[in-house]
Amino acid sequence: MKTFVVLATFLGASAYAAAQSLTVNSQTISGSGCPQSPATNIIVTPSTVFYAGPSSWKALAGPTVPRASTSANCKIDVDVNIPDNWKFKFIETRNPINATTPRGNEHEVTNVYYFASDEPSKASGVTTVTTTGVQTVVNTYDPLHVWSTCGGSDTLTLNSNIRAFGNGVGDIEYIGGVSTDIFWEAC
Ligand SMILES: *[C@@H]1O[C@H](CO)[C@@H](O)[C@H](O)[C@H]1NC(C)=O
Repeated sequence: MKTFVVLATFLGASAYAAAQSLTVNSQTISGSGCPQSPATNIIVTPSTVFYAGPSSWKALAGPTVPRASTSANCKIDVDVNIPDNWKFKFIETRNPINATTPRGNEHEVTNVYYFASDEPSKASGVTTVTTTGVQTVVNTYDPLHVWSTCGGSDTLTLNSNIRAFGNGVGDIEYIGGVSTDIFWEAC
């Protein structure tokens, strides 16, 4: 019994400890905000998945704005090898944006991720932006238990979407890369 308790404590502690390394097999970036572009825009470290569009991407609001221009998205698909006996998930994504929100306007920043191994399970986070200016929108995922496979290879998809709402002339624009921390757990 004592051995079990000690082992469980060790595993519990190690789950939050050393970050593991993902090996990237292939990657694509796509979406209305990020047309197909060189894969070098995606950076995967042991602790973070970071990606930036080829340029800033923007959604517009206002009386004469065509519907297609009121939203923009940028999606990545990254196929990775996961270390044996480890799995990972995401907790939150940071979105650096600049917004113009005249009275009555509000914008929306949405992040969604899932793994090809269990595609019906998706986690998402949405924030409504009502203030004008440069800000970092932090979306926390719900549910918080969308995991990769334990070891082996899996493909993660992460989509970031901005939408602009309102009758005033306004916009929301990404001014930097989308940054998502990796949470590791032993399995
Ligand atoms: C944010 O938007 C305002 C209004 O368009 C602009 O003047 C400013 O330069 C922008 N800031 C950045 C960091 O893009």
